[in-house]
Amino acid sequence: MPSHTKERFPTVSSQAHHPFKGTLITIEGIDGAGKSVLLHSLHQALIRARYSVVLTKEPGGTHIGKMLKKVLLEEEKECDPRVEFLLFAADRAEHFQKLVIPALTHGDIVISDRMADSAVAYQGYGRGVDPHLIQTVNRFAMHGIEPDITIYLRISPDEARKRFMQRHGTQSTMEREGKEFWERVVIGYEHLVASHSRIHTIDATLPLETVAYEAYEHVAHFLRTRSS
Ligand code: TMP
Repeated sequence: MPSHTKERFPTVSSQAHHPFKGTLITIEGIDGAGKSVLLHSLHQALIRARYSVVLTKEPGGTHIGKMLKKVLLEEEKECDPRVEFLLFAADRAEHFQKLVIPALTHGDIVISDRMADSAVAYQGYGRGVDPHLIQTVNRFAMHGIEPDITIYLRISPDEARKRFMQRHGTQSTMEREGKEFWERVVIGYEHLVASHSRIHTIDATLPLETVAYEAYEHVAHFLRTRSS
């Protein structure tokens, strides 16, 4: 295990600092945690409450992101962890420039399936790239903007693998990595949770309706306190 996985990630203020009217929500968790399903139910709930919502994801929210997803994830090209991180970061910069900042400026709620925390957990803790460097590059790519609220779906690698297999069959991306990799990624997420009060943890093994309800409550509370 890389030595930095034993360290706590540096504390970052919970106050989201961005000057925009809109709200940035991210959903995080290891593969198989159920992010996509939650994203869609949160979307429906916010639409019902008459918010203007933009759904997006990393990678894949931009043209570059789609290409990157194909190369890194679908074609399974071997890649140095630093290169992998820089490619995800390049996509992040493009995503912010083309989609996230315009939507926040317009006053929309942006819900993104993954963002910078994935890089800390996967490339940082999972693959051993220095998390402090990752944080610096992420901040650059994101113009210093932090999500207002992050929902972290907590699940063990074993449980996630079972779910992933049920949903995607045996050739899962989860099988490409050993158990230790997923354990390190979970440690990364837990350190992020401990250091950022914007991150709200939900037990992903609870029934979907409960997960969706809890997530909506966190978001609704944020929106209420923000507008009061
Ligand atoms: P997904 O679209 O099914 O969530 O898959 C995206 C994969 O990309 C997932 O395994 C996590 C990984 N990823 C990183 O390793 N670093 C990143 O910065 C991001 C955004 C995703």
